[in-house]
Amino acid sequence: MRVLGIETSCDETGVALFSERGLLVDLTRTQDIHRAFGGVVPELAARDHAKVLPLLLREALKSAEIKAPDAVAVTAGPGLAGALAVGVAFAKTYAQALGVPLIGVNHLEAHVLSVLLDGEVEFPFLVLLASGGHTEIILAEGLFSYKVLGRTLDDAAGEAFDKVAKILGLGYPGAAKLEQVAKSGNEEAFEFPVPQLGLNFSYSGLKTAVYYQVKRGGEELLAERLPDLAASFQRAAIQQLLEVAKRAVEETGVRKLAVVGGVARNSYLRGKFAQEDFEVVFPSPRFSTDNGAMVALTGFLRLKEGFSSPLTLGVYPDLTLEDTSLLYARD
Ligand code: KG4
Ligand code: ZN
Repeated sequence: MRVLGIETSCDETGVALFSERGLLVDLTRTQDIHRAFGGVVPELAARDHAKVLPLLLREALKSAEIKAPDAVAVTAGPGLAGALAVGVAFAKTYAQALGVPLIGVNHLEAHVLSVLLDGEVEFPFLVLLASGGHTEIILAEGLFSYKVLGRTLDDAAGEAFDKVAKILGLGYPGAAKLEQVAKSGNEEAFEFPVPQLGLNFSYSGLKTAVYYQVKRGGEELLAERLPDLAASFQRAAIQQLLEVAKRAVEETGVRKLAVVGGVARNSYLRGKFAQEDFEVVFPSPRFSTDNGAMVALTGFLRLKEGFSSPLTLGVYPDLTLEDTSLLYARD
């Protein structure tokens, strides 16, 4: 059973094939068109997905040396409505033309399961999902059985990285650059806030604190202390993730944690989490940011357990992990 996975929820077009033999092919294209606008422009994202998706599909089939997949999985939410609609319409048309099952995928579940792309991880485990759109701490009790223990009350962690990078004049998308700049900085130079909200998160106060620090110091501060600002922000941002994760380990007694989503690419984060006395697993960096492989894997696992979606599948921009079942009509 070769399952095609399609990801178009934001600014990455992902196409992958997953079968009993594992991942057969995984292609991701990150859209560059948004750089000049300082953020993702939804309409441009949707149009670019429509252009790139057929090309990636052709390339994927060619490289896996198959004519067509046996099932089509597609991210149906959460994400940008127009971008999701391109992927979902494409998947529905393709599945119907081939006469094969369609499987709608929850992007958040795909991130949770992305940790399985690199090998076995036994349930139960905790999941810290930190991306550009979401920040949640989840208990994965078993396959398809999740409890969201806490989530951000405002901005997502990745969103804070991107916004602060912009405030620091590092451009967009600037999270990776911020991490680079922080390497030569003193992380204790500025004391930025780490909110204590139990198992919830908040990033808007941290972003605002950096904004006012830069506003007060002006160009001079940026010119002289950019690495210190970046390092101090990064310390506070990651400290919050670490503290919530530690509280979740304490409260649940589950001593295994997967850190997934784009922020998990951050090597300072990886270093900090590795020092803890519980087990921490990370997906490979290419499976941390949005990709088709995690969608193909989720579709494969769902189909194996008898889940598929009707051809009336819609798009769900605000889909939560708890609502995943509304994508499926079970056999
Ligand atoms: O998971 P992802 O590709 O998309 C969403 O589902 O949102 O995550 C993208 C996010 C970006 O917002 C970016 O800020 C963050 O991942 N990111 C990083 C790094 N690389 C990407 N955050 C911190 N450090 C990084 N090196
Ligand atoms: Zn994502």
